[in-house]
Amino acid sequence: MRTPLVIGNWKMHGTLAEARALAGAIREMIRRPRGVQVVVCPPFTALAAVAEVLAGGPIQLGAQTCHHEPAGAHTGEISAPMLVDVGCRWVLVGHSERRKEIGESDEVISLKLRAALAHGLTPVLCVGETAEERRQGFTFTTVEGQLRAGLAGVAAGELGKVVIAYEPVWAIGTGVNATPGQAGEVHGYLRGLLSELASKEVAQAVRILYGGSVKGENVDALVAEAEIDGALVGGASLNAQGFVAIVRRAARAGAASKE
Ligand code: 13P
Repeated sequence: MRTPLVIGNWKMHGTLAEARALAGAIREMIRRPRGVQVVVCPPFTALAAVAEVLAGGPIQLGAQTCHHEPAGAHTGEISAPMLVDVGCRWVLVGHSERRKEIGESDEVISLKLRAALAHGLTPVLCVGETAEERRQGFTFTTVEGQLRAGLAGVAAGELGKVVIAYEPVWAIGTGVNATPGQAGEVHGYLRGLLSELASKEVAQAVRILYGGSVKGENVDALVAEAEIDGALVGGASLNAQGFVAIVRRAARAGAASKE
């Protein structure tokens, strides 16, 4: 069965002191997570500090992106082996904010995803439609294109190492989350595609997270959906108590939905 996974994406927030305090408080409150896996993705500047705070504990470290080359003349970039070196085990790829603000293409996202796999990081491939795409009935076409392109060139045997995050752009930071029904439908569609790209067994093992205005009050109903295996949390992950409440509720809802 798929263990629920909750990832906090801190985005561009936090001084070193704030990052240490947030990670420390989360670690203190989640000493032995049961039935749930927890990851935090601080900004690059705080990775080393947060790695120290989390060392030896159950909460794992992730980054918000990486460059696809291992090293070289790429001013301002951070590579997958550098992330491994600082203690990361996870990396987000293709977040919609990077697609939109930085202009990351599906091709670059696929290179990043393969670089992450090559260096032993678990890539979390983010996909999701805009409000306009949904209105025009292109939700499935959009996420299918992003999934296929993002996973292009990944050997079928490696697909089981990837995590997918469905983050409808219209739900990110808006306070308007997708309903469990809306998200469940897209998750089911994505799992069907994974089945086609890899195998039914691999598709059943891959975790598909939902992201977009997740909070304590809505996470239960989302994770209770059979196809939703956890959450990628932005704003609500910046408050230790709020984030821990989400983690606990996701663990309970995940366990209950499998009974
Ligand atoms: P919010 O939880 O703030 O909507 O952000 C979601 C997100 O983009 C996580 O990657």
